[in-house]
Amino acid sequence: MSMYKNLCRLLFQLEPETAHHQAENFLKLVSASSFLQEVMAKVCCYESEALKQQVCGLDFYHPIGLAAGFDKNATMIPALSALGFSFVEIGTVTKNPQKGNPKPRLFRYAVEESLQNAMGFNNDGAMKVATRLAKLYPYALPIGINLGKNKSVPQADALKDYQGVLKDFLDVGDYYVFNLSSPNTPNLRELQNSTFVGELFSMAKEHTHKPMFIKISPDMAMDEALQVCESAISCGASGIIATNTTIDYSLLSGAKDFGGISGAVLKTKSAGVFKEIAKAFFGKAVLIAAGGIDDAQEAYKRIKMGASLVQIYTGLVFGGPTLCKHINQEMVALLQEDGFLNIKDAIGADLT
Ligand SMILES: Cc1cc2nc3c(=O)[nH]c(=O)nc-3n(C[C@H](O)[C@H](O)[C@H](O)COP(=O)(O)O)c2cc1C
Repeated sequence: MSMYKNLCRLLFQLEPETAHHQAENFLKLVSASSFLQEVMAKVCCYESEALKQQVCGLDFYHPIGLAAGFDKNATMIPALSALGFSFVEIGTVTKNPQKGNPKPRLFRYAVEESLQNAMGFNNDGAMKVATRLAKLYPYALPIGINLGKNKSVPQADALKDYQGVLKDFLDVGDYYVFNLSSPNTPNLRELQNSTFVGELFSMAKEHTHKPMFIKISPDMAMDEALQVCESAISCGASGIIATNTTIDYSLLSGAKDFGGISGAVLKTKSAGVFKEIAKAFFGKAVLIAAGGIDDAQEAYKRIKMGASLVQIYTGLVFGGPTLCKHINQEMVALLQEDGFLNIKDAIGADLT
């Protein structure tokens, strides 16, 4: 049994949010010590020329990034980079700090290697997070900023709220993600409509030339999802992140009837949504896949389906610190098997 599987036995004794806080404390400690980062990087990082590429003018040394929600407050970036991620998306950050939903709000399904969360954008608020990030930025890896709306802000003021949080991050961060797809802020998903999304990206384009993405839910009717993505792209989005967590509670026996489900049980649904999006937008927009990716086969599959990059959250919880390294090592072998010299050649290979 691997060391992480043994550690899991201990960590999984803890209530899930407590376990996350313990992990966060450890990763903060690592972030404060270049010695610990070097040790961790030796164990967890993997580099190969075959995996390097530029996306949106940014350098990615491989295609595996950390999805939003793990480092909501930008407190662990150096450690996450030592864990072997090639980019880190912080947030979701809101304009004002907020506590999020009442606890318990994170649930672990170990056998299914899945999570259910109803965190509700608990975060330190834009000013504090941007100030923290400014001490690191510019960073060796691309840093994405995932932006959300405060729960207390009425729908009618949503555009102004997104504008406020974006403006606080204009000098820090390499790309922005507008998150309209969390199931944990009441009515947020209603903003996933062509009109609002068009206004949102038109507004954002007035403030920044950096790459911008929309992160979509896996629960929309497909034609609606495609319309929303079309609107985002025609109004200035560089691409689409598909997907966020699902509220399809039938995927997990024993699921709560609130919050969003992530991890292995989301894989098929997320991949299905990604496939349709790729059919419509590959070549017109940069596509990033998220949802149930936990091994090289799945990461490579999404890349061949059209993803330039992939993101992982739940897979890290169950797969442990060497996950990125293992995925990347195997991905190089998969590229070789297919006769591709570089990851770029594999992107969208299954679409043509
Ligand atoms: C505990 C938890 C918190 C999350 N918080 C956020 C968030 O704040 N913003 C966001 O865009 N996505 C958030 N997500 C969704 C992930 O970024 C990702 O899209 C989703 O979990 C699917 O990927 P996975 O199956 O690899 O976890 C969260 C996921 C989890 C498990």
